[in-house]
Amino acid sequence: MTSADRSDAFVEFDHVQKSYDGETLVVKDLNLSIPKGEFLTMLGPSGSGKTTCLMMLAGFETATHGEIRLDGQPINNIPPHKRGIGMVFQNYALFPHMSVAENLAFPLEVRKMGKSEREAKVRRALDMVQMGEFGNRRPAQLSGGQQQRIALARALVFEPELVLMDEPLGALDKQLREHMQFEIKHISDNLGITVVYVTHDQTEALTMSDRVAVFDDGRIQQLAPPDELYESPQNSFVAQFIGENNTLEGTVQEINNGVALVRLDGGELVDAVPVNVSEPGERTRVSIRPERVEFLPDRLSPDAHTLDAEVLEFIYMGDIFRTRLRVAGRDDFIMKSRNAPDQVRLKPGERIKIGWEPSDCRALDA
Ligand SMILES: Nc1ncnc2c1ncn2[C@@H]1O[C@H](COP(=O)(O)OP(=O)(O)OP(=O)(O)O)[C@@H](O)[C@H]1O
Ligand SMILES: [Mg+2]
Repeated sequence: MTSADRSDAFVEFDHVQKSYDGETLVVKDLNLSIPKGEFLTMLGPSGSGKTTCLMMLAGFETATHGEIRLDGQPINNIPPHKRGIGMVFQNYALFPHMSVAENLAFPLEVRKMGKSEREAKVRRALDMVQMGEFGNRRPAQLSGGQQQRIALARALVFEPELVLMDEPLGALDKQLREHMQFEIKHISDNLGITVVYVTHDQTEALTMSDRVAVFDDGRIQQLAPPDELYESPQNSFVAQFIGENNTLEGTVQEINNGVALVRLDGGELVDAVPVNVSEPGERTRVSIRPERVEFLPDRLSPDAHTLDAEVLEFIYMGDIFRTRLRVAGRDDFIMKSRNAPDQVRLKPGERIKIGWEPSDCRALDA
């Protein structure tokens, strides 16, 4: 097994498949091993199977094939109240007939906790989500974002070993969302809670997670720590989905000493790391991050291939300059440059040569 071996896996998906209708698989052969204390995020477009995975782990849906284990035991064999799972779902269902404080106290009562300890924990959980004043309200008397924060507090109040969160911050404004991201991360780190988190916000995934599983079409496309995901995407989907990327299409000419020479469709040559191409003649998409593109001659390595570019648009963004270029027949090529003292501000119409380190350019599937 890879990064997390069987012995320290706390949550395991083992060849899991799921079909709701007996025909289409919405989760396809999922293998995932999560060690205790890890913050793992499932990231992917709408309909890619993220919620389904969480529901199976929570025990609300059954896997069509395969097995899900929690601390070494198949999940089906563990009664719900013994699973020790805190949950926040997309439709944060609070108990409508209970006040906010009663909602939070409920999981503690179930665990037979005494009144004073209960009250202290409820107060702390409410403060954490900045809802200290709202203990006596009913859920119906709260805004959507406030309900979401209460749902979050309720999932964490009993300090569970495993917390499942499905878009828990979706209804919050930017500032509150960033505050809560920090709080959730802080609390889970401090208490050593294992978190399986679902979002389609890639910034959230990159900033909060130990590892991110990128989902598409019911499969994990790549499972890696944030920096590896961003810098070494394993296929075109991941490269496009995480961060901004320039892609150029072409055909592999040759592969020598770990460098692929690619002829772009317009005839230009570029050097790239062969990621999932292996032979001359294969079609490929080369991908290069905007911040790795250089145009000042002294920042280009002398033996690297360069491309002719025409400046179409220059946008001053304060910390960076964002320049849109016409390159190899495309007019959506983006270059980002740091606003350094020696940096040049380009003007539309200027013609430049651009290049990059071959190791920053990846030849991916077409
Ligand atoms: N109860 C259900 N019955 C039938 N099909 C379902 C059911 N729940 C989900 N699906 C289908 O399964 C697929 C995966 O859905 P899922 O809710 O897991 O996606 P998701 O990745 O969570 O998407 P989103 O980001 O929109 O929440 C979708 O095609 C969806 O239509
Ligand atoms: Mg979902």
